Amino acid sequence: MSAFEYRDGELFAEDVALRQVAEQHGTPCFVYSRHAIEQAWLAWDEPLKDCSRLVCFAVKANSNLGVLNLLARLGAGFDIVSGGELERVLAAGGDPGRVVFSGLGKTAAEMRRALEVGIYCFNVESSAELERLQQVAAELGVTAPVSLRVNPDVDAGTHPYISTGLKENKFGIDIADAAAVYRHAASMPNIDVKGVDCHIGSQLTEVSPFLDALDRLLVLVDDLAAEEICIQHLDLGGGLGVTYDDEQPPSPGEYLGQVRERLGDRQLSLVFEPGRSIVANAGVLLTRVNFLKPTAHKNFAIVDAAMNDLIRPALYSAWMGIDSVHPRDDRPSQVWDVVGPVCETGDFLGKDRELALAAGDLLVVRSAGAYGFVMSSNYNTRPRAAEVLVAGNQQHLVRRRETIAELFAGESLLPEA
Ligand code: LLP
Repeated sequence: MSAFEYRDGELFAEDVALRQVAEQHGTPCFVYSRHAIEQAWLAWDEPLKDCSRLVCFAVKANSNLGVLNLLARLGAGFDIVSGGELERVLAAGGDPGRVVFSGLGKTAAEMRRALEVGIYCFNVESSAELERLQQVAAELGVTAPVSLRVNPDVDAGTHPYISTGLKENKFGIDIADAAAVYRHAASMPNIDVKGVDCHIGSQLTEVSPFLDALDRLLVLVDDLAAEEICIQHLDLGGGLGVTYDDEQPPSPGEYLGQVRERLGDRQLSLVFEPGRSIVANAGVLLTRVNFLKPTAHKNFAIVDAAMNDLIRPALYSAWMGIDSVHPRDDRPSQVWDVVGPVCETGDFLGKDRELALAAGDLLVVRSAGAYGFVMSSNYNTRPRAAEVLVAGNQQHLVRRRETIAELFAGESLLPEA
């Protein structure tokens, strides 16, 4: 059962009519389903039940405290990429001992804080970062648990902006250099070599690139073992795709089954960093049609959400489903470009969508639970949307809408001349 279904001609999130959410909290508004997040989490965790594992939700995909808290209660670990994300995880009740810290530009302050709270592992992306981590750990008199993020040079077959595992990408350590960096790491007094890590891209719809990367990592793990550098865990990152339109990505279970098969009898703990596949289809962006503007060339439906709320269509030409909350049968459907009020031609949520519309209608943009609110901005001095988490027949406002006053509260006028 999908969490977002029509009942008597209107769209619900679990047992809450989206119309009610709009009445209570206004639009635009992100609406998440607790049940859908739980199911997606279980789809990752269950197939790994009998092995040593850590499934770390990639916080960048959706960092709302309510969402993180829900995942923390389910026992999730977290993949973070900044000190800010670390503080969110802690504020949401996440266990720092289940946190992996990815990202290629960690600052000394971020490293210090992560060492102080005792994270599970740093995913180190360069020799320079390793040196700095050694120094910070030495200053604190602790050892830093480390994985090297290796760039395996495989083509993830996804959008170039979200492909990360190719030689020309800025991420990770070239696999050809990895053994030397491991040797160096193993000789550092305040570095504890724990694992190997990679993340080759996002929205992958095939298993084969993951397996290609895994094969390359396993050669490295075996070579290191021959040098007495023992790798205890293997982190394959995130990247599993979801269905936006007609994509048919493998389920986590299919993917994990194939990964486990490849491991043979190696005693490696498994770490994953899924983001999109846990939250994308657990959320929608609820928006209201403000005006209809049919023209000689195009029909525009101008809605109250915009590229500042959901930038994926503008940034990646991403296709995201758009549906009416109350589909109409009192007028024929027409082809519309669903656009926002922001002053940019790129401000659209969907093009050429067949919908029967009237001004005032509510629409949802589907699959907006991942890389939705987190990528939103205040462009055009637009307050960021509210976020609501639905659980059964309850709606919880997990982030209230920003006020306009908040938008410039940190700014000041010039002093008098
Ligand atoms: N781990 C690392 C190191 C990552 O860089 C990412 C995503 C993930 C895990 C989670 O990947 P996922 O399971 O969500 O694919 N804003 C883009 C996606 C950017 C992904 C960046 N890295 C979009 O909206 O499509």
